[in-house]
Amino acid sequence: MSIKHLDKIVSLCKRKGFVFPNSEIYGGLKASYDYGPLGVDLKKAISEKWWKAMTSNSNIVGLDSSIMVHPDVWEASGHVDNFNDPMTDNKDNKKRYRIDDLLSQQKSKVIDALCEALSIENKNDSTTIDKISEILLQESDKYSDALESAGVIDPFSGNIGKWTQATQFNLMFQTNTGPSEKTGKNIYLRPETAQGIYINYLLVQNSMRLKVPFGIAQIGKAFRNEIIARNFIFRTREFEQMEMQYFVHPSEDESSMELWKEKRISFYSNELGINKDKLKFHQHSEDALAHYAKDAFDIEYYFPFGWGEVEGIHNRTNFDLKEHEKLSGKNMMYFDAIKNEKYHPFIIETSTGLNRLFLMVLCESYYEDNENNRTVLKLPFDLAPNKIVVCPLLKKDGLPEKAKEIFDSISSTHKCVYDQQGSIGKRYYRQDEAGTPFGITIDHETLQDNSITIRERDSMEQHRIPIDNILKFISENK
Ligand code: GAP
Repeated sequence: MSIKHLDKIVSLCKRKGFVFPNSEIYGGLKASYDYGPLGVDLKKAISEKWWKAMTSNSNIVGLDSSIMVHPDVWEASGHVDNFNDPMTDNKDNKKRYRIDDLLSQQKSKVIDALCEALSIENKNDSTTIDKISEILLQESDKYSDALESAGVIDPFSGNIGKWTQATQFNLMFQTNTGPSEKTGKNIYLRPETAQGIYINYLLVQNSMRLKVPFGIAQIGKAFRNEIIARNFIFRTREFEQMEMQYFVHPSEDESSMELWKEKRISFYSNELGINKDKLKFHQHSEDALAHYAKDAFDIEYYFPFGWGEVEGIHNRTNFDLKEHEKLSGKNMMYFDAIKNEKYHPFIIETSTGLNRLFLMVLCESYYEDNENNRTVLKLPFDLAPNKIVVCPLLKKDGLPEKAKEIFDSISSTHKCVYDQQGSIGKRYYRQDEAGTPFGITIDHETLQDNSITIRERDSMEQHRIPIDNILKFISENK
């Protein structure tokens, strides 16, 4: 699959009602998308799988904390000081770039020139780019013209840019409460859902009488003012996170990290039907670790544009709890009554983006069946927005009435769609593109003997079965 397939998926999403560009009638808002009728169902099905995988564990409970919290939360967490991306502007055309993103689009001779200028060893991987960005930021005066001298090309103009020196760009969206900007307090839209869990963890633990190890799971919106947002819904400024924070004894952080790495990668193949060959772990180098992390692994998926992170599994130590304790003055320690021991638990975090999983599932399911001249979304049955399309062969002779009767009898168990427009082949192909696994056709024979034709999406095989066997057939063949 190549990048051109991504364009085809974007177009399919709009055509079939999965994802629409946001504010289209006003020319659109960059990197912002709305989820259409089928998109809402697919997103919900993915998040339900995740929720079940988490909360079916007896020691993992749910939470729904606010998007806006006390501004000190972001001081304590380090986001005010550290949640920055290094960026540069091209003075010629005022285009702004994240430096790591800009460098990842350069030829190797440009990276070689930068490594030489900054005296760093060129390892020819992402650590080289991280290192360059870091030095350009830390010594921005000294290396103010390094990007231009190395010949860094502006991907927009195709020419060498007149680059400003590297500066920090904080990714948090800021607003204020109260009727006026002067009297109101600065408030941030949360850039991760995790902090809402940390500030509530003792309330959750006490109310549910939980004992370490235990986890708190949350699904909710997060916001980041990404400098570069691209690849459709892969990186957007508003997105949904599904995070689970697992509180463990400090001596058990490493074994717990291993446990969650294993559980999380299996989730993708077992629950979302992702081919294992398209998944891998990427461990963060020490240089690239977030300010809170002792160790971090990304789970990456092979998208049409290359490998991309879908989930982060982080050992956050007790950094967040201790920082909240310092700034709030409130005790954030867990008390183990049996061992009579007080401590700040370590936190193993699993953090994934629902929108990225949505894109991953679409990329994995997208299939061009050239032999039959059709496009199919081979969505797993559980994830497909509609499970069955019900079609009367003709719009007359009592066939629509019989079809509606069948529709009513099965739609309480499985989400169905009714279609009587166009040839039967066209109707099936329309649903293949929407990922509907089964099609049922009601014809004149149905009126005689109560049998129907049921068609399978992927194989296109058709079977003649009694109406009474529809649900049994589906449960055996889904
Ligand atoms: N609480 C830890 C945390 O937020 P992260 O690696 O920054 O860690 C975790 O983000 C996951 O959230 C990523 O793996 C990705 O799936 C999703 N994510 C992050 N930024 C995103 C964005 N701008 N658009 C869509 N998803 C994003």
